[in-house]
Amino acid sequence: KTQIASVDNLSTEEQSYTQAIDLLKAGETVAFPTETVYGLGAVATNELAVSKIFEAKGRPQDNPLIVHIGEIEELMSFTKNIPQIAKDCMDAFWPGPLTLILPLKPNSLARNVSAGLDTVGVRMPEHPVALELLRRLKLPVAAPSANRSGKPSPTKAMHVLHDLNGKIPLIVDGGATGIGLESTVLDVTSKVPTILRPGGITKEMLEKVIGPVNESKPTDHAEAPRAPGMKYAHYAPNAPVYLIENSELTVRNAVEKIHSDSQKVVLIAREQYADIEVDYFFSLGKENQLQDAAHLLYEALRSCDETDADLVLVPVFLKEGVGTAIMNRLEKAANGNWYAK
Ligand code: TXA
Ligand code: MG
Repeated sequence: KTQIASVDNLSTEEQSYTQAIDLLKAGETVAFPTETVYGLGAVATNELAVSKIFEAKGRPQDNPLIVHIGEIEELMSFTKNIPQIAKDCMDAFWPGPLTLILPLKPNSLARNVSAGLDTVGVRMPEHPVALELLRRLKLPVAAPSANRSGKPSPTKAMHVLHDLNGKIPLIVDGGATGIGLESTVLDVTSKVPTILRPGGITKEMLEKVIGPVNESKPTDHAEAPRAPGMKYAHYAPNAPVYLIENSELTVRNAVEKIHSDSQKVVLIAREQYADIEVDYFFSLGKENQLQDAAHLLYEALRSCDETDADLVLVPVFLKEGVGTAIMNRLEKAANGNWYAK
C-alpha cells in the first residue's frame, strides 16, 4: 500500500526525506509537493523507473515529462546550446513555476522522458520540500502531475492518494500546494518564444524580461501538437462540464431550466454566485482574486465526483493574467462545451 510521509514537523522530517531519497535511488516513484501541483517523480536517467510513472498514471507514452532540477549546473548533463533568452528566464523566474523547453543532449536522459523528441522540458520548483528533495538527491527528476491521466492535477496529498493508492510506494505530504495550476510551459527553441501551456507566470511577466512572446492557440495543437499532452482530455470530472456566460441572470435561468428537467447541477463559481439555489456549490473565491480561483479550481473539479450531479456549470473568466491559465484548464475540462449557446 502507499505510505504517506509528513514533512511538517522536525521530528519526522528527516526520516521522510531519507525514505523518499532511498526509494528514488532504488528506481521507485515518489509523489511530492511543488508550488504548482503534486508531482510523481522518478530519477530521469533510469528508464525502468520512469516507465513506472507512465504505468501508475495510465499516461500515454507519447506525452513527454517535465524534468525537475535543484541546481542550474545539472542542466549541463542533459541539455545543450541553451539560448540566451532561456538564461534570462532562469535568472528571472527560477526557482518557480516556469518550464523551459530546451535542446536535449542525445543519450543523456532515459528515452521515455522526452517521448522521442529532441527537446526536454525543465524547471526548478520553488516549493521548499521539492527543492530540499532535489538538492539532497543531486539527480534530475522526471515528474508529471501526480494524478491519474485525464483527472484534475492534485493540489493536496489526499488527491494523490485517491488517484494512485496502491500504485506508488510513497507520498511526501507537504500540505496544499500554493498556485494550484501547473507551470507555464515556454518553448525557447522556436524563433519567437512560444507559450505551449499558460500558467502562473503570465505572458506579460515573460515579455517584460525577454520581449515578444507567442501564445499557441488550441487550434495550433490540432495541426502540430507542440506540447503533446495538450491534445488529450484533461481535468474532467465524470459529469459533463459546461462553460456559461459570467452573468448572474444567465446562470439563474440555466439552473431553472436544468431543475425543470429534473436534473441536478454543480455550480463552480466565484462567491457572488453563492446565493443561487443549486444542488452543489463549490466556491472559487472572491471576485477579482484570480490567484484564489487558480488555487481552488482543481479541488472543486474533483469534488464533482463526490456528488450525484448530472452536470457542472462554470461561469467563464476573462482571459487576462492568470485568467488565461484558468480558462485554458476550464476549456479542456468542458471539452469546449458551452451551456445552450
Ligand atoms: O507544474 C508542473 O509543471 C507540474 C509539476 C509537478 O512540476 N508538472 C506537470 O507535468 O504539469 P505534466 O507532465 O502533467 O505536464 C507536462 C506538459 C505536457 O503538456 C507535456 O506535453 C509538455 O509539458 N512537455 C513536456 N516536455 C515537452 C517537450 N519536450 N516539448 C513540448 N512539450 C513538452
Ligand atoms: Mg498533468
